[in-house]
Amino acid sequence: MSAFIVLGAQWGDEGKGKMTDYLAEGADVVARSQGGNNAGHTVEVGDKQYKLHLIPSGILYSDKLNIIGNGVVLDPKSLFEEIEYLNNMGVEVTPEKLVISDRAHLIMPYHRALDGASEKLRGKNDIGTTGKGIGPCYTDKAERSGLRVCDLMHPEIFKEKLKANLEIKNAILTKVYGIEGFDYKEICEEYLEYGERMKAYVKDTSVIVYDEIKKGKSVLFEGAQGNLLDIDYGTYPYVTSSNTIGGGVCPGTGIGPTMIDSAVGIAKAYTTRVGKGPFPTELFDEMGEHIREAGHEYGVVTGRARRCGWLDVVILKQAARVSGLTSFAITKIDTLAGIDKVKMCVGYEFNGETIDYIPASLEDLALCKPVYEEFDGWGEEVADARSYDKLPENAKKYLKRIEELTETKISIVSVGAKRDQTIKVSDI
Ligand code: GDP
Ligand code: IMO
Ligand code: MG
Repeated sequence: MSAFIVLGAQWGDEGKGKMTDYLAEGADVVARSQGGNNAGHTVEVGDKQYKLHLIPSGILYSDKLNIIGNGVVLDPKSLFEEIEYLNNMGVEVTPEKLVISDRAHLIMPYHRALDGASEKLRGKNDIGTTGKGIGPCYTDKAERSGLRVCDLMHPEIFKEKLKANLEIKNAILTKVYGIEGFDYKEICEEYLEYGERMKAYVKDTSVIVYDEIKKGKSVLFEGAQGNLLDIDYGTYPYVTSSNTIGGGVCPGTGIGPTMIDSAVGIAKAYTTRVGKGPFPTELFDEMGEHIREAGHEYGVVTGRARRCGWLDVVILKQAARVSGLTSFAITKIDTLAGIDKVKMCVGYEFNGETIDYIPASLEDLALCKPVYEEFDGWGEEVADARSYDKLPENAKKYLKRIEELTETKISIVSVGAKRDQTIKVSDI
C-alpha cells in the first residue's frame, strides 16, 4: 500500500507538474484534491511542453488513472478546452483514464464574473486572483448553495437549483457591482450539454481511491498552489480559497489520514510569488530581474511576471510542519547557476528577536527582516548532473543546509525542466 502527496511548499509554481510527472511513473493513480483551473502545471517530455490546469499531470501516461477529486472546483468549459488541447497534443483522454467526482463543485459563469467584479471593487486592495472564479465557487460551497457535478447528472434538479442561485447572483451582479447578469436559459443549455458530455467520466471517486489503495496500488495526490497560499496557513487574505496543505488531501478526495504514507514538498531553490501579498525575501533589484529571466518566471495561467527573491527557509520549515512533509524535492537549482553569492533566509528579525516562524498577522510579517546566510555559487554544469555526487560542491553545501534547517531530507533534486533532468537522492 502506498499513497503519497506531492505538494507546493512555497507560493505555487514550484515545479509540481514536473515532479508529478516524474513520480507518476511509479504510481497507478494520480488524483487532484483541491483548487481548479487556477493551477498551471508544466510538464516537459522530449521536445513537447504540456500545460495542465484541471486535469492531473498523470494524464500524459497511457496507463494511469487520473482523478479529479471532490475538493476540486471544476469549470466544465475549462475541462473540455483542456481535453481538446490534450487531444491536439496527441494525448488521449477517455473515461478509462480520467474520472471526475460527482461531489466536485461547479464553477459557473457568474463565479468568474463575481471574481472579476469583487477584485475590481477592492481596487488597490485586490488579491490579484487568477480571475477563474475559484473564490466565489468555494464561497458558495461553504455557504451551502453551490451546484455540484451530481446535480448536472439530474437535469431537472440542476435547473431548479440554478434558477434559485441565479436569481440571487444576478441581483448581486447588477445591484451591488452594477454589471450585467446572466441569462438562465443560456447557462442551462450550456451546462446541460456539458453534463451529457461529462456523464461517462463521473463516479464516486472516494470509493475508487480507497479501493485502489486497499488493493496495494500506488496513489499520487497532486497538489495545486502551495503552502503559503493555503486558506488557513497562507498569507491570508492573499491566498487561494482551499486547503493546499497536506491535510487537505483527505477531505478533498474522501480518504482518511491513516491511508497516507508520505508527503513530498516541492520547493524552488529560490522563491517566487505571482499575485499580491507579503514576500519577505523579494528582490527588487537586478538580481530579482536576473532570476526572473534565467528561470522564465512568467505565470502559466495569466502570463504575469512572477515576483522573485532568495530562498526563504522559514517558509519551508512551516511547510514541513503543517503539511507533515517526509522529504523535499528541490527544483530549479540550475536557475541559480552563475550567481557569485547566493543567499538563503534562515530566520526573521522581528521586534529585536530572531524568529523562525511566520507570524499570523500580515502587519507583523511586514516588520520581519530576513536574516541571510551567504553561499558561494555554482556554475552551469549543474544542469548536466544526473547523480547527487556529480552536483557541484557548492550546490551540495546549499542543499545540505536546507536539510539541516528544516530537519527534513531532500529526496529529489531537479536540474532542468525535462523529465530526465532529475536526480533521485533517496526514496520518497
Ligand atoms: P507548478 O505550478 O508547480 O507545476 O509549476 P509551473 O509549471 O507553474 O512552473 C514551474 C516552471 O519551471 C515550469 O516552466 C517548469 O517547466 C519549470 N521547471 C520545473 N523544474 C525545473 C528545473 O529544475 N529547472 C528549470 N530550469 N525549470 C524547471
Ligand atoms: P499552481 O498550481 C501560483 C494565486 C493567485 C493569487 C491567489 C488567489 O500552478 O502552483 P485564486 O485565483 O486562486 O483565487 O488566486 O493565489 N495562485 C497561484 N499562484 N500558482 C498557482 O497554482 C496559483 N493558483 C492561485 O495568483 O495570488
Ligand atoms: Mg503553476
